[in-house]
Amino acid sequence: MTSILLRGRTLSFERWPQTIDDHSAWRYEEDGGVLIGDDRIVAAGAYADVEKQAGEAVRKIDHRPHLLLPGFIDAHAHFPQMQVIASYGAELLDWLNTYTFPEEKKFANAQHGRRIARLFLDEMVRHGTTTVVAYCSVHKASAEAFFAESHDRNMLNIAGKVMMDRNAPEGVLDTPQSGYDDTKALIKEWHGKGRQLYAITPRFAITSSPQQMEMAGALCREHPDLHMQTHLSENHAEIAFTQQLYPWSRDYTDVYEHYGLLGKKSLFGHCIHLSEREADALSNSGSVAVFCPTSNLFLGSGLFDYQRYRKRDKALRIAAATDVGGGTNYSMLRTMDEGYKVIALNGEKLNPFQSFWQITRGNAEALSAVERIGTLNEGTDADVVVLDANATPAMRLRMETVETLAQELFLLLTLGDDRAVREVYVAGRAAKTDMIAV
Ligand code: GUN
Ligand code: ZN
Repeated sequence: MTSILLRGRTLSFERWPQTIDDHSAWRYEEDGGVLIGDDRIVAAGAYADVEKQAGEAVRKIDHRPHLLLPGFIDAHAHFPQMQVIASYGAELLDWLNTYTFPEEKKFANAQHGRRIARLFLDEMVRHGTTTVVAYCSVHKASAEAFFAESHDRNMLNIAGKVMMDRNAPEGVLDTPQSGYDDTKALIKEWHGKGRQLYAITPRFAITSSPQQMEMAGALCREHPDLHMQTHLSENHAEIAFTQQLYPWSRDYTDVYEHYGLLGKKSLFGHCIHLSEREADALSNSGSVAVFCPTSNLFLGSGLFDYQRYRKRDKALRIAAATDVGGGTNYSMLRTMDEGYKVIALNGEKLNPFQSFWQITRGNAEALSAVERIGTLNEGTDADVVVLDANATPAMRLRMETVETLAQELFLLLTLGDDRAVREVYVAGRAAKTDMIAV
């Protein structure tokens, strides 16, 4: 067994931090250690204690004075949209038709898919994200490219080819049968291979016919352990069009409910304009609402009411995500900075411990994967990010006046990006250094 011992200021969450002083919600060690054996965390805690458990042959890596946290988790991103980011001037449906669908057509070419998958996962790692829940294009080859690249890097990623058979141009359409068959084949080939997990991915109600929605429901019934991901209630024109396409439905959520797509492993991107009935339906089924602040601001979609959803009697499970390329940044730090502002516009605040909980343990819980990722707990996969709050001149200057961990974390969220990510361990391997070395 190869083992390494990381030294630094370790921070990992036990549960949601109620307040900024809720110290028992996290474990913080000023002089902490993380002992990694092969690809798992063997021990974490005070460095002196952890060091005692390390054998003679251990390789010691000193990251002091930096912070060691569990790798970040991005619960919703579109890997084929790297060249869609920064497309000007449109709301959701025009943005899809003008920029996104034409770009996704290019993924019929497997070589293009492989290139972008490689560059996408490079960006994830550079920004400290060790797990991403990704949408691929409609083309089976795009999912194969993504999983092959992810598997090579030994990342725990969750992905699926989008199913879409209408209301989009030729070149990004499948059929109910081909969407089903391709999904089946991809599940067989990739789900559970190494760390790879498959998500059944009907893009959204507008681009799937009722027949395809039936097929998506069938796939979920046939594979109840798999994730399902789609989009819900992002934009007013989208909601109105959905109502037109499914006139029998009580509301947008009812469409997915009808086809059996709600559940504990179901991830619904956006969920901005939900009625109380819809929020109840999501809560009752244990479904997850995915907060994508940079995207919601960029596309002018609306303000996700994070604190209302969390505090309502029937609370929602919430994840946070970039939604690249509607989202405008690969960084979960930048994402939670914009998230803070969205929540502020709703008259609430998210404290820095809550923000870091969200992008580590919170997202792992939302993905039902906290036994494997999202903490520094013993036995979990060794995905670790190393953060430097002095990464830039402006950060260094502001750090001169920082006195508490909470202030440092808030500075990282407000000014931090990929430059603050000094190293990233993916299953125990120093992935950011490796990438730069190549
Ligand atoms: N709804 C359906 N497809 C998409 C997409 O690619 N991005 C966003 N933001 N919303 C969608
Ligand atoms: Zn999306």
